[in-house]
Amino acid sequence: MEKRMVSNLSNLPKSYIIPPEKRPGNNFYPICNIPVIDLSKAKGVDRPKIINQIMQASTKFGFFQVINHGVAIEVMEDAMKVFKEFFELPFEKKSHLYNTHDENVKCKLYTSSSNYENEEIHYWRDCLIHDCTPLKESFDLWPQNPPRYREVVGEYLSQVGKLGSRILDLISEGLGLESDFFAHGYKEDFFFTVNHYPPCPDPSLTLGLPKHCDPNVITLLLQDIVPGLQVCVDNEWQLVQPCPNAFVVNMGHQMQVISNGKLKGAEHRVVTNAEKSRTTASYFVVPSKDCILEPAKALTKKDLPLYKQFRYAEFMETYKALNTQEPENLLEPYKIKKEVI
Ligand code: OGA
Ligand code: NI
Repeated sequence: MEKRMVSNLSNLPKSYIIPPEKRPGNNFYPICNIPVIDLSKAKGVDRPKIINQIMQASTKFGFFQVINHGVAIEVMEDAMKVFKEFFELPFEKKSHLYNTHDENVKCKLYTSSSNYENEEIHYWRDCLIHDCTPLKESFDLWPQNPPRYREVVGEYLSQVGKLGSRILDLISEGLGLESDFFAHGYKEDFFFTVNHYPPCPDPSLTLGLPKHCDPNVITLLLQDIVPGLQVCVDNEWQLVQPCPNAFVVNMGHQMQVISNGKLKGAEHRVVTNAEKSRTTASYFVVPSKDCILEPAKALTKKDLPLYKQFRYAEFMETYKALNTQEPENLLEPYKIKKEVI
């Protein structure tokens, strides 16, 4: 088990080498021009301007960064420190969390994807995933080592959760929906992953995460100063330059459905780094399993709906069964086909 963790690999096994046409090569640039939005201005007279920036970025890229977002800088720094400490622990201190396949385990450590046993290619990432709803109840399942993990991450997730709701409020206003629109089952569940990408012997041949679009509503990503996240813009992979103290926000598949295609569920992937390790933390805002997804009614008065209704749990079955390397196919079964007359 331990041998599987990329933190313990010193060479690049064949099973990590991806087919030539999908390899990232040596050039991870250009830098992606996603805007950095100052959320401290999202009140008063500047609010419409900030909402407009969010809408433009979410339409064009499906991505933006936020600063002055209300999550205390010390809390972010402390959380990043604990995440790194967790991955620096010797494996025997966390081996009890190692689990590659059981979906019902609420806190687990795995490597590559949660489908390690069956995947054709492995990816250069170790990952800790745990529930965070309700925050207080899931607390007892989280790692106890480093000893500060629960306390620090508890505070971090409580503040990030509020930020998530605030961003959804701004988006609902931007879309012209009622202000509590997302309170109806769309932000019921949350899950949290800490990703660790150790230095990689050959970043040109492999990826930390393959091309994908997050299956949920929105995701808030904390990254350290080492770049690695790439966004697909006009069929070109572009690198997101880490911005100090910022969160990267991206739209998932469900935001694309709810907004009737106006906002873009953005494709992204992660490249690795030969010298430095990189740690990131993704906070996923997820609908409840029974939530019915469909384009918001207010948006289909004038425009035809692009997607039919479906249950979130049903979508997730397809998401897991299909090859997530082709994210554009995932919404295909739910698209309303235009009739040819
Ligand atoms: C994810 C993701 C990006 C990163 O966790 O879904 O895209 O840079 N992470 O770790
Ligand atoms: Ni992602």
